[in-house]
Amino acid sequence: MRIVVIGATGTIGKAVVAALEDRHELVKVGQTGGDHQVDIADSGSIRRLFDRIGRFDALVSAAGKVHFGALAELTEKEFELGLRNKLMGQVNLVLIGRDYVNDGGSFTLTSGVLSHDPIRYGASASLVNGALESFVKAAAIELDRGLRINVGSPGVLVESLPVFGEYFRGHEPVPGARVANAYVKSVEGLLTGQVLQVL
Ligand SMILES: NC(=O)c1ccc[n+]([C@@H]2O[C@H](COP(=O)([O-])OP(=O)(O)OC[C@H]3O[C@@H](n4cnc5c(N)ncnc54)[C@H](OP(=O)(O)O)[C@@H]3O)[C@@H](O)[C@H]2O)c1
Repeated sequence: MRIVVIGATGTIGKAVVAALEDRHELVKVGQTGGDHQVDIADSGSIRRLFDRIGRFDALVSAAGKVHFGALAELTEKEFELGLRNKLMGQVNLVLIGRDYVNDGGSFTLTSGVLSHDPIRYGASASLVNGALESFVKAAAIELDRGLRINVGSPGVLVESLPVFGEYFRGHEPVPGARVANAYVKSVEGLLTGQVLQVL
């Protein structure tokens, strides 16, 4: 399969690339790194990316920023980052990507454990992750041409503990290789409309 990996240079993206690259042709996309660049917060940038890379069989998105901060200090502006970037960025990958994905293809997005297991400073992340999981369930029942859609919803990665560890005290960290398996299952299997938790 020809598989586009958005966020291929990131912690989850690298694990997904490692799990898929032996069997498939991967198109590795980052914001600044990778073979191609995109800003998922800009729908024009997404369309230009797809025009450059052409048709594909599967898209994996392991990209999306949210603001972490105390609820007492959050304003509309802080929520805007997660809504534009992680939520609508990934939704737009699907809405625009429909025109470029081959029949029978798939989309696999990324949410995260905070959709159902909230932490301090995570209100925006929880909101966005929950919205992504609801979107995927709804989109799956309407997608035509045999298209499928799932979302990977991992716990904090072992590899991310140096960065996020203090936010996730008491959470069971998951190795990137185990997280990547959920994406492999989504891409190579037949599931659709699923929230693939890796906890
Ligand atoms: N890591 C975890 O423990 C964990 C757990 C659950 C959920 N998640 C979620 O998984 C997603 C990826 O996390 P991660 O830890 O793998 O992130 P990461 O290591 O920071 O990597 C982010 C990746 O996304 C790309 N990127 C950043 N902003 C972008 C944009 N506007 N447009 C396109 N690409 C962009 C980066 O490209 P460049 O390198 O080129 O800048 C990089 O490839 C996030 O939404 C995160 O909330 C992460």
